[in-house]
Amino acid sequence: MLKSIKIPKRLIIKVFVLLMVFYTIFHTTSTSLQNPLINQYKLKVQRQVKLKFRGWYTNLLSTNLKLEEDKNFEKQLNSLLQEKLKNDVNNELWDINPLMELPLDITVPSYFINLLIEKPSYQPFDARFTLSVYLNYLATKNVEKKGVPFHWSDWVDLTKLNKYILSRKNEKPTCKELFDILKNTKLVENSKLFPLEDYCKEDLKFPLGFKVKGFSGPQTIDNHEILSKAHLYLSFPSPYKLIFLTELKGSYEIPVINSQNDLKYSLLNNKMVEKVIKSRPRTNLHDSSSKIKLNPLKAYKDLLKYNPPTNGDKVLKSNKIDIPIESFNVDAEAIKNELSKKRITLKNEIEYLNSLKNSLSMDSPPKFFKETKLLEKNPQKWLGEHYDWRFFNGLTVGKEEQILSLHRLIKNYLNFARQNGLITWIAHGSLLSWYWNGIAFPWDTDIDVQMPIGELHELSRRFNQSLVIENVGDDSKFEFSGMGKYFIDIGSSITHRTKGNGNNNIDGRFIDVDTGLYIDITGLAITDTPAPSRYDYLIDIDEGKREKIREHTDDNGQMDHYVKNEELPAFNCRNNHFNTYEEISPLLLTAVENQLSYVPSNFIMTLNYEYGLNGLIEKNFRDYIYLNNFRIWVKTQDILDYLNNPSKWIQDQEPKNKRVVGAIEKLQINKLNLNDHISLLKDNRIFKEYYKSRFFTKFHQDQLNLLQLNEESTKEFNDLLTTYQKLNGLSKPLRADLFMYNYFKNDRDYDAEINHIIKLNSVYRD
Ligand SMILES: *[C@@H]1O[C@H](CO)[C@@H](O)[C@H](O)[C@H]1NC(C)=O
Repeated sequence: MLKSIKIPKRLIIKVFVLLMVFYTIFHTTSTSLQNPLINQYKLKVQRQVKLKFRGWYTNLLSTNLKLEEDKNFEKQLNSLLQEKLKNDVNNELWDINPLMELPLDITVPSYFINLLIEKPSYQPFDARFTLSVYLNYLATKNVEKKGVPFHWSDWVDLTKLNKYILSRKNEKPTCKELFDILKNTKLVENSKLFPLEDYCKEDLKFPLGFKVKGFSGPQTIDNHEILSKAHLYLSFPSPYKLIFLTELKGSYEIPVINSQNDLKYSLLNNKMVEKVIKSRPRTNLHDSSSKIKLNPLKAYKDLLKYNPPTNGDKVLKSNKIDIPIESFNVDAEAIKNELSKKRITLKNEIEYLNSLKNSLSMDSPPKFFKETKLLEKNPQKWLGEHYDWRFFNGLTVGKEEQILSLHRLIKNYLNFARQNGLITWIAHGSLLSWYWNGIAFPWDTDIDVQMPIGELHELSRRFNQSLVIENVGDDSKFEFSGMGKYFIDIGSSITHRTKGNGNNNIDGRFIDVDTGLYIDITGLAITDTPAPSRYDYLIDIDEGKREKIREHTDDNGQMDHYVKNEELPAFNCRNNHFNTYEEISPLLLTAVENQLSYVPSNFIMTLNYEYGLNGLIEKNFRDYIYLNNFRIWVKTQDILDYLNNPSKWIQDQEPKNKRVVGAIEKLQINKLNLNDHISLLKDNRIFKEYYKSRFFTKFHQDQLNLLQLNEESTKEFNDLLTTYQKLNGLSKPLRADLFMYNYFKNDRDYDAEINHIIKLNSVYRD
């Protein structure tokens, strides 16, 4: 039973007056169009007025409680937190519990220390162990030159393969037993299955009894999980290098010594653990009850202290970047010739040169990226598209894991790019969500970023096939940050800059190896693709440009679009998204999801072209609603259920009776008062979301308000950033680390797993 809504008379009058003003502005501006320059100017003003008006109008209908300035609210928020923590028997709030000590210590398995204990056939995966060993090892001499061994089993959880690894030789599964789904005719209807022998090979000398050589084509979800892991375990080559990020001080670039996938390069066999134990560097190893413990955060701290990264000068720091216009125009042929003349020795450069040659000689490049292909009959088959098949670990859409993975993707991509001097910015849906509150929409499934084509070449030359590793802690207080790992993969047709056969709209990916979710990277370049007519005015108002284009128009009246795009100047990606130079450059330093990043200074124009004004002001999207006092998106149904019967809602927070949201109800949602907000915080999800993001989203809102008032307010913009950075610390994660999240959720016990495998090993030995 909804309370009926009374709209005050004063409000009606106010809205009416505003509508009149609005109408007048538009009526006059749209009828007096003569000079194109004035015309354009007016359009721009119009757009701004419209935006401001509509923002104003929608805000009229909602309350502005200024929660962050309300001492009483702050008090209630804190007592709510205390109360929640007291009742948190299941540790669901571990990531906002200030007293929580994270379980970062990890015991070195006994078989590394006691030579009498036989090593098992595999080592249970634990990110804490892998990172502790590698970070400790990095602190030893010359590792940056000599390189490190690598095997995927230390970096991705392959637990699902255990039963095959452990089974006896005569019990190993066959390819047919595992992956032949043809017999299930209903299931495979309409799907074009690949022949088994294309991707699976049996041989008892493989520890699984079979090997996955490559992409399988359409398969069931469960089979895809096995396929991706088996491929990582025995087939997928190592990355070319490992990039260990710090918080702000630059990164370590460590070459990998083996490209070959071989278990002798895994921590179990590569002697790194033994070396680390023996060298016992400094303080990070400590004995207690004769066990040796490692700790990735301590290892990180020691590394920074004793062996800080040396590329700190590459880190982008300025408040504003004027992008050199040449970086949108690359002569790949010239680069190829230059590199061919040089004697290059670095693996990355050799492979990049090969790729250039290959790309230049190809007419119609095949599709490079392969996503997890589900069966046509699967009602959720399109969800597979969001995962790179090689790292698929089950569907995460709609789950907490998804939100955590996407947050870390953007955190680490931005941090990686900035630390290595690569110019890039968020685009499309990611830019739109940033506009709202600085963080991704809860319904997002991927992230889009762009870079000038010149930077894409740089990224390929230096970092293609690298594994980027998150900074385990921050650089000053050494609080835990995270243990994410990301694979950089750039397509094989980088010299093709138009849509062509449409196979390769995306140039590169930054892939979370824990989930397979990714960031789409696209390069912008000048091409001969016709630009949208919305930019024609830039030519119309400039006699010089008109002349130049006329010179390059043939007798049949065909203009040269390359020349036109050069004159605009306007660039496009391979999916024909266009931007003018003016829309992008200069880039402004700001924060995205609490990470230092750059955004195009004229992002409003771009967002307006792509999403229209509604995208910028509509507070209802899909089944979510934007609560402007919390500055977060929450499930509309949750709020409706609350409004329906607040006291009942507070008691049980399980939404039951689903109803469609009506316009009147939406209005009322925006009218929630202070007490309503405090009640809503009883919900742990809403509480966490607000509690973790509130200072950042407030800062984001203040910054945007400044920019919208005055595009020239970059100084104030920067002051705000500096103040926020001092008070709250940019580059901290806003959300839990995925490994820790799973650790708490699944109640993991690494020591028990190790003991278990040691026992199993002695039982199962052939
Ligand atoms: C990136 O590496 C992959 C794998 O070696 C290769 O196929 C691709 O051509 C490379 N891309 C570029 C732009 O070098």
